[in-house]
Amino acid sequence: MDPVRNPYAPGAGQRPPELAGRDKELAQFEVVLERVAKGRPERSMVLTGLRGVGKTVLLNAFRSMAIQRLWGTGKIEARPDQSVRRPIAGALHLAVRELAPRHRAPERIDEFLGVLKAFMARDPKAAKGSGVSQLGIDVPMARGRADSGDLEIDLTELLTDAAAVAADLSVGIALFIDEMQDVPTPDVSALCAACHELSQNGGPLIVVGAGLPHLPSVLSASKSYSERLFRYVTIDRLDRSAADVALLAPARREGADFQAAALDALYAAADGYPYFVQAYGKVTWDVAATSPVTAGDVAVAAPLAAGELAVGFFGSRYERATPAEREYMRAMAALGDEPVPTAQVADELGRKPSSVSPARDSLIKKGLIYSSERGLIAFTVPHFGRFLRTQPG
Ligand SMILES: Nc1ncnc2c1ncn2[C@@H]1O[C@H](COP(=O)(O)OP(=O)(O)O)[C@@H](O)[C@H]1O
Ligand SMILES: [Mg+2]
Repeated sequence: MDPVRNPYAPGAGQRPPELAGRDKELAQFEVVLERVAKGRPERSMVLTGLRGVGKTVLLNAFRSMAIQRLWGTGKIEARPDQSVRRPIAGALHLAVRELAPRHRAPERIDEFLGVLKAFMARDPKAAKGSGVSQLGIDVPMARGRADSGDLEIDLTELLTDAAAVAADLSVGIALFIDEMQDVPTPDVSALCAACHELSQNGGPLIVVGAGLPHLPSVLSASKSYSERLFRYVTIDRLDRSAADVALLAPARREGADFQAAALDALYAAADGYPYFVQAYGKVTWDVAATSPVTAGDVAVAAPLAAGELAVGFFGSRYERATPAEREYMRAMAALGDEPVPTAQVADELGRKPSSVSPARDSLIKKGLIYSSERGLIAFTVPHFGRFLRTQPG
């Protein structure tokens, strides 16, 4: 069918043509926004799940909901080895700028920007001359607030002040943190402490996170009370009916349809993983000559789609691994698709556990594997073991 009208959107963070199967999460977030705006105690949400299940997309949908309610919003994507100070400053700058035109007391905004500037100036890189000027804040730097150099204190003060600006307008501020498992350890603890403080004084600001399945354990390792701060929501593959909606709703808007057997075949291939649903849907659309799409079309498209995934989705990640890391992952893959004990991986490699742990640790840091439970290890990418087993050694 006409490739120009192909509605499907495989790609990291790509907005899907239909956000299928997430009504419950969207409704939950609606309640969170409502309660926070009213100053009610509420835990923020943290989305966790494997790669390609739609965490980023859902986070973006949450952001749209907050914007709809005239909240100020900002978003960062955490990176290992990068302090959150600068990114958070940038995100809050954006959030408050969204509110500024409606605020009746411009001096309150300027006051906040002065504090923000001071907060930024505490960044080690800003001290070297870059940074502060980049935000283009032309108010004088404040003194004695959010500028201690201790991230926990500074974040608490900055977030409190941002919340106060939003409270003037009876709205809130939502700060979104994607790839939250990558926030450096000291920063995680500062962030949790700041959220804790905010939740106690009822300021209308929430930090909404998304990350890999082990994010809850990263947060609780840092602050034991993190379970009381965040409501962890597991984002999983789509069930059959949601996967069908993800394919059918966009097709029908283009006047096309799928035969039931085609949907069966697509569900078997994509296994409900949103990324795969988009990838198989996209190639199938292009392969099909006419509507309705048949199982025969899917049979032709599936190997092509698998080939594209092998390069883009799996291959790009495999490339990031060193030879020793690849060997480690191959041993994992040889042991099956369930989480495997790390001791067994070492066994499979015929090595001592201590000699393979550097490879394991660097793979965790690269976000390719995660520790699902103590002593167990699993791939963060669905079907990765299957992919590795088809790769020549
Ligand atoms: N609920 C959904 N319904 C249909 N497609 C979705 C859904 N959520 C995500 N997708 C698609 O899945 C892919 C991966 O989404 P993304 O948010 O990047 O996943 P993650 O952040 O979990 O790795 C994108 O192509 C997106 O369009
Ligand atoms: Mg993502």
